[in-house]
Amino acid sequence: MDISIVGSGYVGTTVAACFAEVGHDVVNVDIDEDVVASINGGRAPIHEPGLEELIETHAGESLRATTDYAAVRDTDVTFLALPTPAEDDGHIDLSILKVGARSLGAAIAEKDGAHVVVTKSTVVPTTTEDVIAPILEAESGRALGEGVHVGMNPEFLREGSAVEDFLSPDKVVLGSETEYAAETLRAVFDPLVERAGGPPVVETGVAEAEMIKYANNGFLAAKISLANDIANVCAEYGIDSEAVLSAIGLDHRIGSEFLEAGVGWGGSCFPKDVAAIVAAARDVGYEPAMLEAAIEVNDRQPVRLLGRLRDHVDPDGARVAVLGLAFKPGTGDVRNSRAIPLVEALVDAGADVVGYDPVATENFRAEFPDIEYAGSAEEALAGADAALVVTDWPEFAELDSAFDEMATPVVVDGRRVVTRRDGIVYEPLV
Ligand code: UGA
Repeated sequence: MDISIVGSGYVGTTVAACFAEVGHDVVNVDIDEDVVASINGGRAPIHEPGLEELIETHAGESLRATTDYAAVRDTDVTFLALPTPAEDDGHIDLSILKVGARSLGAAIAEKDGAHVVVTKSTVVPTTTEDVIAPILEAESGRALGEGVHVGMNPEFLREGSAVEDFLSPDKVVLGSETEYAAETLRAVFDPLVERAGGPPVVETGVAEAEMIKYANNGFLAAKISLANDIANVCAEYGIDSEAVLSAIGLDHRIGSEFLEAGVGWGGSCFPKDVAAIVAAARDVGYEPAMLEAAIEVNDRQPVRLLGRLRDHVDPDGARVAVLGLAFKPGTGDVRNSRAIPLVEALVDAGADVVGYDPVATENFRAEFPDIEYAGSAEEALAGADAALVVTDWPEFAELDSAFDEMATPVVVDGRRVVTRRDGIVYEPLV
């Protein structure tokens, strides 16, 4: 198939490279000239394991990038992979997607034959049909379901394992309303499904596909929040929450993944998506109690972590090492990292904060230029009155003697990653 992907962020770039890898001809359209130059030069514009190799292999052959939307005319189908950031009230901001849809619609006006436009971005139910489709119709001058067809294909890849997740999915969800769009989507995904050993392909309507994405992320975020709720009860009783959670995970109806209790979920997806589906549900007159509770429990975890710190050290005037600034290990991404509310609260309380992260320091510095940063965990710990562990980087399990260099060896562990030993005051959050 000839495929165009609009947007070269995490999702767009990964999807473009992976479609090229399974045998399609792919063009990636993005307004950012640096990103376009990077892809055409065989280099990945973002850091993701395996992505550089794919782009290096296919650039100049079955993968190219351009800033010119006219390129979509030579393709059968376009995937819209543009960001849908959060507004302050939780609703998604569709402005970038609308601009992209306008440019795309204008470009396909000049195309011979029908075109399929597939939403890859995370959008609340009915956005594709109520917002994107009318723009495409107006700009292309084509009738929906005749000259232009829409589809929705939610993405479930994770940062840090994007290529592997995309090429070996648990499921593929193809949303469409016309047989032409359904057939086009099947033709796009057939080679990937075959290569991945035949994962289930869910064919559904467009709005169902949109909702599946939110249901998936909402369920996972709520699962972690439920694990945190249970772990908080355990902590109050002095019960080992890890023993409890790993035991319940053995029930196949529960499953052991995404049951790790701690300081909560962050990142560019869970916080944004749970807030967006809550806001969208309220718009249609429903108060989604479980999803609201998932957010509430998540917001509480950093507050509880600070409470643990205050049990031992008054933050006012104390030197506090914050270990881990990324929203999860294996990435430099600090968006909605749990370190953000923690550092804010520590600074407000008068603490002298020293941050450390093996990868994310520069991204965090852009948000918090005024705190101190250390080049290693050892350096952060030296002379500190307390340490807060916020991200489960494996290296924090091996700090050991570095704790001896602290002024007072109080370790408040938000991820249960530090190895306990005599000589430190070890305080796990859960
Ligand atoms: C998440 C989903 O897992 C992907 O399936 C989805 O495609 C993606 O969002 C998206 O919507 O684009 P991601 O945000 O990359 O992926 O990261 P996760 O690995 O899911 O972790 C999210 C947060 O949950 C992290 O802060 C992590 O520390 C936390 N977490 C995860 C826990 O606190 N406990 C767990 O057991 C698992």
